Amino acid sequence: FLPTTLKTLWEKPSPGTIVDVHGWVRSLRKSKNVCFAMVSDGTCQQPIQVVTTPEQAQSLSYGASVKIQGKLEVSQKAALGKQQYELLAQKIDLYGTVNNDYPIQKKNLTTEFLRQHPHLRVRTAKQSDVFRLRSDTLEGLRSFLTKNDFIETNPPLLTSSDCEGAGEVFLVAPYPKKGNSTDSSEISNVDDQNSSFFGKPTFLTVSTQLHLEALALGMARVYTITPAFRAENSHTSRHLAEFWMLEVELAFIETMDTLTGVVERLIKHLIQYLKQKGYHRDHWNHLMNEWHRISYTEAIDILKNSGKAALDPPAWGSDLSSEHERYLTDVYFRGPVFVTDYPTAIKPFYMKPSSKDTVAAMDLLVPQVGELVGGSLRKDIIAPEEVPKGLEWYSETLQQANTPHGGFGLGIERLLAFLEGDVTNVRETIPFPRSSGSIFA
Ligand code: 4AD
Ligand code: MG
Repeated sequence: FLPTTLKTLWEKPSPGTIVDVHGWVRSLRKSKNVCFAMVSDGTCQQPIQVVTTPEQAQSLSYGASVKIQGKLEVSQKAALGKQQYELLAQKIDLYGTVNNDYPIQKKNLTTEFLRQHPHLRVRTAKQSDVFRLRSDTLEGLRSFLTKNDFIETNPPLLTSSDCEGAGEVFLVAPYPKKGNSTDSSEISNVDDQNSSFFGKPTFLTVSTQLHLEALALGMARVYTITPAFRAENSHTSRHLAEFWMLEVELAFIETMDTLTGVVERLIKHLIQYLKQKGYHRDHWNHLMNEWHRISYTEAIDILKNSGKAALDPPAWGSDLSSEHERYLTDVYFRGPVFVTDYPTAIKPFYMKPSSKDTVAAMDLLVPQVGELVGGSLRKDIIAPEEVPKGLEWYSETLQQANTPHGGFGLGIERLLAFLEGDVTNVRETIPFPRSSGSIFA
């Protein structure tokens, strides 16, 4: 009941049939006797070559949106292993054309330039490739979790707490209506507004983990694929103010090896899934080896013994910088590494102790990207007076028939940058990136 997409067409091409193709003209070559147009509808990587007469081609222009009816034929170049099929156009309908100032020109466009046109960059081959990989990645993650009895659930995005305790929250307030005016200069006392709606200050979630824990303590294995919001003022290639996170929580797990095992199997399953879907990246093969596992203390020793003063090796107790992480993944291990058992003082309140001064935390560090996953085993019990304000419900949850449990969060945009390999900034992996100082569309 829907028009055929190029994706479906390429799955079962039947030469000799008449087909309708809908899409955008990605390139155009006109000569005296014949004209070639590459048309893509963005549903798959492969565009279709449309062959027209110069008369028909008069209505075609670069960037235009079109409907073309024609006969699918095996291309003469097929023997060379190039363009397998082409469409001999019979009828061309033009939906729309682009203006002279259309920013998406054929010449090499930089990612920085394209970022200034997020509403249009999806029409480039590279960006639509990345967004399709994003869609298949989410499916691949879900496929592993469903197979292993995880239940997809939906914790709230509006919360009254700061799960990570880093103070990087966005405050949410109703827009203060005064009369009929919607002039934003009238936003007067945000605190008042914020408190009056929910009765206490309310934020956009930085992580749904605490709610997910409550749900795991009733459904055993749960996950959510959720937006998360952080008011981090970091202008790096791996931070967004709005990002998506796969958050997974499991009851009845007792060891760190079980937790890291789930993460490793999940990502390896995803790569197999993507390969079956026809994706290939050279650096994926190497990932099928067993991943490394070290403690934070071992990581500090490796950095101290690196002989690289420029690395500024950290003292035990301080956090690893992105340079430290990159040394471990790109230079020392040349692959993913789990770092476990971090100092208690640099981790959030909910993590289970693993020694006098460490907690059962784990970070998965991967080449190019750095930290991809953060997780931990969770505390067995926390007294109400020990939880951050507003989290008395969380303390009560742990007091009612708690079980050993743990979980993790995996950043979707960082995962995509890692999978792509040549995408160096998470801003290219999300359609409309938000980061400090920039909301375009
Ligand atoms: O390490 P984080 O802060 O862990 C948590 O939030 C836990 N509560 C998750 C859990 O256990 N359920 O964040 C998890 C992951 C990071 O490893 C990173 O991949 C991603 O989320 N992430 C970001 N991605 C893009 N932009 C940001 N500003 C990010 N902050 C975290
Ligand atoms: Mg983290």
